[in-house]
Amino acid sequence: MQTLHTIKELRAAVAQHRSAGKRIALVPTMGNLHQGHLKLVETALQQADIVITSIFVNPLQFGVNEDLDSYPRTLEQDQQQLQKAGCHLVFAPSVSEVYPDGQEQQTLVEVPVLSDLHCGASRPGHFRGVTTVVCKLFNMVQPDIAVFGLKDYQQVAVIRRMVADLCMPVEIFGVATVRADTGLALSSRNGYLTDDELRVAPLLQQTLQQTAAAIQSGDRGFASLEESAQAALEAAGFRRDYYRILNRHSLQPAQPGDELVILAAAHLGKARLIDNIEV
Ligand code: PAJ
Repeated sequence: MQTLHTIKELRAAVAQHRSAGKRIALVPTMGNLHQGHLKLVETALQQADIVITSIFVNPLQFGVNEDLDSYPRTLEQDQQQLQKAGCHLVFAPSVSEVYPDGQEQQTLVEVPVLSDLHCGASRPGHFRGVTTVVCKLFNMVQPDIAVFGLKDYQQVAVIRRMVADLCMPVEIFGVATVRADTGLALSSRNGYLTDDELRVAPLLQQTLQQTAAAIQSGDRGFASLEESAQAALEAAGFRRDYYRILNRHSLQPAQPGDELVILAAAHLGKARLIDNIEV
């Protein structure tokens, strides 16, 4: 497994694989890898000949008071895990390689409406940072496919929309959330939780399952289901962000007959946790 740090080296390596007729998959990550990320690599290996994992903590998608500085950077461990998983190439550029003019890059990729809802409302500018860096990574690697986790449900929706709107020749794969035995969605940010908080955190997924079960048994009082779920989470020590029953495709409030998803975000200690369930 190769690790490359510059766009020039990356392009040379990709050109070789491409001229050999290989199908190339990209798995974009911010590193500090866990089994969730490795599941994306496993999926990519099933879909393509060559798997490239990018590791880049993207400053553009962090808000001013967010955890950019404390975000865990563990390149060596990540490389070991990726090697074992069968990844072919790691692309780990520096910030100046991706943003040579500082973060003040002029051209931004933005998917309005979808990016302003839910996580986008709580984290203004976040999805613009994500779509801008993912577009740049797509231009650097020019992959046939790219693999994303459905834990970040809105992120996948925003990226699918960018790809469709800009006619990007990349097929997007969404991979089901990998969870701990407790049901807690694996996340690099779980590392911010204390032992006590780790015992409470699985309640987020349990609450989503309870709301889903209530809907499946015919309850259509969405507003009161959302409110009682938020209250239960608060009583357990979470601080509110949002909890919404939505149309799975538009991510707008659900109407009768829609295919549904419930998206939730809540703060616990120093961490902001997100999770979801399709109903
Ligand atoms: P990061 O948080 O490192 O996540 C990288 C990818 O791993 C994302 O597609 C995310 O949805 C997926 N992932 C994380 N936890 C998962 C889990 N428990 N199960 C399945 N997949 C999981 O998301 C980002 O980085 C960035 O926004 C990025 C797309 C790399 C752009 O900077």
